[in-house]
Amino acid sequence: MYALNMEEEKEPLINLIDIYKVYQMGNTEVRANDGINLKIYNGEFVAIVGKSGSGKSTIMNIIGALDVPTEGQYILKGQDVSTMKDDELAAVRNKTIGFIFQQYNLLARQNMLENVELPLLYAGINKKERKQMALDALERVGIQDKWNNIPNQLSGGQQQRGSIARALAGNPSLILADEPTGALDSRTSREVLDFLKVLNSEGNTIVLITHDNAIAEEAKRVVKIHDGKIIFDGPVEEYKRSRT
Ligand SMILES: Nc1ncnc2c1ncn2[C@@H]1O[C@H](COP(=O)(O)OP(=O)(O)OP(=O)(O)O)[C@@H](O)[C@H]1O
Ligand SMILES: [Mg+2]
Repeated sequence: MYALNMEEEKEPLINLIDIYKVYQMGNTEVRANDGINLKIYNGEFVAIVGKSGSGKSTIMNIIGALDVPTEGQYILKGQDVSTMKDDELAAVRNKTIGFIFQQYNLLARQNMLENVELPLLYAGINKKERKQMALDALERVGIQDKWNNIPNQLSGGQQQRGSIARALAGNPSLILADEPTGALDSRTSREVLDFLKVLNSEGNTIVLITHDNAIAEEAKRVVKIHDGKIIFDGPVEEYKRSRT
């Protein structure tokens, strides 16, 4: 399977091997993921694209260690996560992954500093260090002056930057973004996408989930899924050519 800048001997950050996620709905089986094989290396910027119901959230939940597959193996940073129990999965998530969601998922009654500190608290980082890391992250996304504001005192774009700060704060190995621009206007979407590109140019590995080809084409590599299967995996230029 294709991967950018890869040397064969290098270990992938993400290695999905024959992943199946099957839901039993009465008499019918829904194969939300139907044999996914995918390797993603450190420093890549990959978009996973597909239409509604194609299996994007299902694979994102597996990649993000939020769920385990029915069948298959998932190796994340050399660790087999596919057989882990909930508490082990939570530990892996807190150490390894920064999440960015469409609806920001910020806590409404906590200020931005507290919101950004939360995953660091779960990761067991002490109070003083937590505060510094959270302030640094807010500064990186340009909203350090809002540290004491609660989310609804910020614009949509600022809230999404806050959620990016929360994703970044613990220096995760992987940033996993699920429709990160889904709730934003086009100008603010542009800002968020440009910011993800900057993060990638600084060496962060980014996996972005979207139904929107125009957004997928902002990544360096595109993986297209349809009916739970990968039907395209290649560099963005090739993806663009395949669509014209
Ligand atoms: N908990 C569940 N129980 C039963 N079926 C499910 C469950 N979760 C997902 N599915 C089914 O699996 C398939 C893939 O769903 P998934 O949520 O991964 O799609 P998606 O690509 O994220 O779609 P969208 O763009 O609408 O969010 C769909 O047919 C869906 O109905
Ligand atoms: Mg979805």
